[in-house]
Amino acid sequence: MKLKLAIALALAAMSAQAAEPWMDKSLSADKRAELALQAMTQQEKLRWVLGHFGSDFANKTKKHPAALPFSAGYIEGVPRLGLPALFETDAGLGVATQATKTPRERTSLPSGLATTATWNRELAYQGGAMIGAEARASGFNVMLAGGVNLLREPRNGRNFEYAGEDPLLAGTMVAQQVKGIQSNNIIATMKHYAVNDQETGRFVVDARLDDASNRMSDLLAFQFLMEQADPGSVMCSYNRLNGVYACENDYLLNQVLKKDWGYKGYVMTDWGATHSTVESANAGLDQQSGWEFDKSQYFGGALEEAVTNGHVSQARFDNMVFRVLRAMFDKGVVDNPVAEGGAIDYTAHNLVSRADAEEGMVLLKNAGNVLPLKAGAKKIVIIGAHADVGVLAGGGSSLVYPIGGNAVPGIAPTSWPGPVVYHPSSPMKAIQARAPGAQVVFNDGSDPGAAAQAAAGADVVLVFAQQWVGEALDAVSLALPDNQDALIGAVAKANPKTVVVLETSGPVLMPWVDQAAGILQAWYPGTSGGEAIARVLFGEVNPSGHLPATFPASESQLPRPKLDGDPKNEAVRFTVNYHEGAAVGYKWFDLKGLKPLFPFGHGLSYTQFAYSGLTANQKDGKLSVSFKITNTGAVKGKDVPQLYVSPLNAKWEAPKRLAGWDKVELAPGESKQVSVTVDPRLLGMFDSRSKTWRIAKGGYKVLLAHDAADAKAASITVQLPQRTLNVAGK
Ligand code: GLC
Repeated sequence: MKLKLAIALALAAMSAQAAEPWMDKSLSADKRAELALQAMTQQEKLRWVLGHFGSDFANKTKKHPAALPFSAGYIEGVPRLGLPALFETDAGLGVATQATKTPRERTSLPSGLATTATWNRELAYQGGAMIGAEARASGFNVMLAGGVNLLREPRNGRNFEYAGEDPLLAGTMVAQQVKGIQSNNIIATMKHYAVNDQETGRFVVDARLDDASNRMSDLLAFQFLMEQADPGSVMCSYNRLNGVYACENDYLLNQVLKKDWGYKGYVMTDWGATHSTVESANAGLDQQSGWEFDKSQYFGGALEEAVTNGHVSQARFDNMVFRVLRAMFDKGVVDNPVAEGGAIDYTAHNLVSRADAEEGMVLLKNAGNVLPLKAGAKKIVIIGAHADVGVLAGGGSSLVYPIGGNAVPGIAPTSWPGPVVYHPSSPMKAIQARAPGAQVVFNDGSDPGAAAQAAAGADVVLVFAQQWVGEALDAVSLALPDNQDALIGAVAKANPKTVVVLETSGPVLMPWVDQAAGILQAWYPGTSGGEAIARVLFGEVNPSGHLPATFPASESQLPRPKLDGDPKNEAVRFTVNYHEGAAVGYKWFDLKGLKPLFPFGHGLSYTQFAYSGLTANQKDGKLSVSFKITNTGAVKGKDVPQLYVSPLNAKWEAPKRLAGWDKVELAPGESKQVSVTVDPRLLGMFDSRSKTWRIAKGGYKVLLAHDAADAKAASITVQLPQRTLNVAGK
């Protein structure tokens, strides 16, 4: 009987296999996609290239009935063939919800800049794995994360979603997050491809950047990410690049991404970034997202007609569908169907977010070792930024609504890209818990005079300063808003033991930098941000964050002192000329001999680290660097030794480039030997005509530094042979 049953089951399985050969897991993703495509009708193919919004949109259209409520998007599947629909959620900080009164509440990571400021690849991976797990448990199989636009513009309203100014650091760190997300058998993206580096006029701006400079900066961050994490999808951006919309840009989509880099996934648009049927399909676009934001369903009936009439070949159309299907098989979406209501261990997830937040905090200044806070403090005064009840989050599509609701509801703007949200993780409560014997006083900071009075006589004063920004807008300036500079100045004058805790999207100016004894950059610290801040302030965690972006001393130092475009008139097309080329951030400061307020890579610790024994050698042009790092202080801590390379004669876009780093934890007195291999593309210049990286023969200085302005950096010179490498650096 058993034998008969076994045979019957085997036959059933075989016949099912025969009926749906694409479900055979032993086959490659390519083969499975090919088989599934062959089984589809034209109408079924069309489903994969048209994305629907997952929310009601400005009473223009109703969300797709099958989309998850208040979600980013939905793509119909083909149930007949066992191929699931795609349920899309934002974004890189966790499971976001489109603005609504009934949001799904989930765990929020700290900002992307905070994760990058950890320089810790494992933490970035764990954060991605955590938010990807919450996406899957919430019924989503596509997570619109992977934001990696370079921080060219320190006022960009979305810097908090991204990973700073250096392509190696940004590409590497976001790649780890994308790998973490995709470890949940869901598709992640990389976005916004490409050179979408400011929010002002994002729908109409024409970004001007030459090919070689782009390949060595913005595109290099995407290339590193793609190579290291293989995101299932790429989201093309709203802006034009060199006169052509990114989502119908043959250079970006067909030439660079698919041909030069060999990308095998699919290209989806941003929501409202599709402008044509034939041009965009033939330029390499594969899927229109959120068609309700566009003028029409370019990839609906219009595409069917274009294929019927040969304006878009059947082969191109089939390839569009193939790429979506291949990503679904490759990332495990077909074999692991999602469902809502999966279990989420919020306690464990809060700890993941907290670990990321506290390791991403950057101790910018610590005069007189005002930090860590001393036990036995009698009076601690806390001022500003609603630090009595919560910590700030950024606005827009990446906003993760907090479990427990907004700690400070009702702050304008209350509509998109608002609401302004504070995660209900109170720094004050966390501080009180760590200073049981102290009198802890809160002042809201609305009146600098009153705040200064409250501050006088305290053992220590903690002024929390905030800067809310969000998608679709840029900070009007790098100055802290709402008179906070005057507040900080008044308080620091009243009490020299003043520590400023910053909750900002990115770089800000600090006219009070000499008056404040301590400065801690906490970014947007996420779900457990209050706890994380207190743990760092009290030394339970030794700060080890390092700046992923240069903090300018003034806006006059920037390549564009004044932001281009007019936020009051976003309909008029304008150009941003990225004349700095690949000299982004610290490279620009080096090139122009400018002294920033705080340099890229800067970050203090409660202990000290020394570097020694720097050696560098090259074999067939492959540069390897080795050195020893020692904790010379009295407490355990982590450090980020940074390697920069600077050509003695060759002409680069700037004097030096970040070529590698490590994150090392050491006990007092402990040493560790570190070795780093340098990606050869970081040693050469990209040549557009030949599409090769060219390393000039000659001497190169290798610097081992604490930050990009480390005047005492150890250095060694190494001779490199001339080399010509292909686009992939081989
Ligand atoms: C937004 C954003 C993009 C997001 C998408 C869906 O406008 O630019 O990052 O993933 O639309 O919400």
